[in-house]
Amino acid sequence: MAEPAVLFVCLGNICRSPMAEGAFRAAAARAGLAVKTDSAGTADYHVGEPPDPRAIAMAAKNGVDISDLRGRQLVPEDFRRFDHILVMDHANLRNARKIMPADAKTEPRLLTDRIPGREGSAVDDPWYGETDAFAVTWALVTAAADELVRQLKA
Ligand code: 4NP
Repeated sequence: MAEPAVLFVCLGNICRSPMAEGAFRAAAARAGLAVKTDSAGTADYHVGEPPDPRAIAMAAKNGVDISDLRGRQLVPEDFRRFDHILVMDHANLRNARKIMPADAKTEPRLLTDRIPGREGSAVDDPWYGETDAFAVTWALVTAAADELVRQLKA
C-alpha cells in the first residue's frame, strides 16, 4: 500500500496545522508507519513564514522540532494529491470547500472527527490566547494524531 498522504489545514498555517503536522509525524514515527504529510493555511497571510514562536516552543517542549516548516496556502491541487485533508475548525471547512476543485479526490474533514467523543468540535485558534492556549492545541492535535495513526495502521 502506498504511504498515506495527510494534509493538515488551519487559517494561517503558523499555529495549529504545523503543530498537528509535527504531532502526526512524531506519532507515525513512534508507530513505524511511513506517511507523507504537509500543512497549509486557507489564508495567505503567513506564506513563507516559520511557525509562530509559541507553536515552535510548545512542540519543542514535547520533543518535536517544527522550526523548519514554512507557511503556504491551500491550493486546488491539494485535493487531488492528499488522501486525508484535516481542518481545525468550521471556518476552515467552509474556506477549504471554496478552494476545493470540481474533480477533488478528497473532501476536507474536521480533525476532531478522528477523536472519539470530540467529533464535530473545533481545535480553537490559539493565536490570540496565552501560552495555555497552545498547550490545549498540543493536547488536541496529539490525541488526533495518535488516533489517526491507529486508524491508518488498522
Ligand atoms: P492558525 O492561527 O490558523 O492556527 O495558524 C492563526 C495565525 C494567524 C492568524 C490567524 C490565525 N492571523 O490572523 O494572522
